[in-house]
Amino acid sequence: MLNIPLPESTFKDIRDYIYEKSGIYISDTKKYLIENRLSRIIRENKLNSFEDYLKLIKQSGNRNDLNRLFDAVTTNETYFYREPRQLNVCVEGIMPKILAQKKGAKNVRIWSAACSTGEEPYTISLMLMEKGYLPEQFDIYGSDLSEGVLQSAKQAVYNSYSIRNLPEPHLKKYFSNSGRSYTLSSSVKNTVKFMKINLVEDKNIKQLGGMDIIFCRNVLIYFDTKAKQRAVSNLYDSLNPGGYLFIGSSESLHNITRAFRPNVVNKVIMYQKV
Ligand SMILES: C[S@@+](CC[C@H](N)C(=O)[O-])C[C@H]1O[C@@H](n2cnc3c(N)ncnc32)[C@H](O)[C@@H]1O
Repeated sequence: MLNIPLPESTFKDIRDYIYEKSGIYISDTKKYLIENRLSRIIRENKLNSFEDYLKLIKQSGNRNDLNRLFDAVTTNETYFYREPRQLNVCVEGIMPKILAQKKGAKNVRIWSAACSTGEEPYTISLMLMEKGYLPEQFDIYGSDLSEGVLQSAKQAVYNSYSIRNLPEPHLKKYFSNSGRSYTLSSSVKNTVKFMKINLVEDKNIKQLGGMDIIFCRNVLIYFDTKAKQRAVSNLYDSLNPGGYLFIGSSESLHNITRAFRPNVVNKVIMYQKV
């Protein structure tokens, strides 16, 4: 089916609205993305134009309309064992250090911010269990802006793309396979709590504080500098002193903040709150 035409000025209005609500910046070259992804929603709402859609979104008090927009414009690519070098440094280097500091009095709190469909927090949990840590020793949180991905995360049923990097013994031990789907065992599933959190909304992010380790990988790339600064400052506030932030290995905090002390271990950069 043909896309509904998107006039330049309406594209800019929609782009600004998405930016204001999520920090996601859609450049002029990505106009096709808005055209493709929103045309379907416009038809489903029985609207005739992007102008009418923008009016609906702005006036609608219905959360579902905004959620639908977020689901459509976010890029949710993720998979188990993504960037394993960082995960190994966290599980083998940082985890024992923080546990020792807590002297068994408190759990280690780990947050996968912008976790998409859950592969990242579940990988961390699975790796910790494989290292012999007990679920009683850690709390893992997964959050995202998109409710659609959070629903999938809670179901924890994955396709072969998601599990392609999982070591075979872990696949056998923690998943049951039926046809093309792989269901994560409840021993791992029950260790992660999911919630909706918008990283650029200061009020919203305060739900999660006192973190020891935060993973915020492969999301800052969708933000402009201002939104990155807001998100990173929110994450800083959510960390305990001495806590660590991991961002994607192709991302950088250059020109974003100087509040963290960069640490390099095994070629992995992590940012410590000092
Ligand atoms: C490419 S995925 C990254 C998933 C995972 N962290 C990884 O590295 O594999 C980016 C995720 O960021 C989420 N996202 C985008 N803007 C966000 C915001 N303002 N607040 C929270 N999550 C956001 C998207 O919904 C998407 O699921």
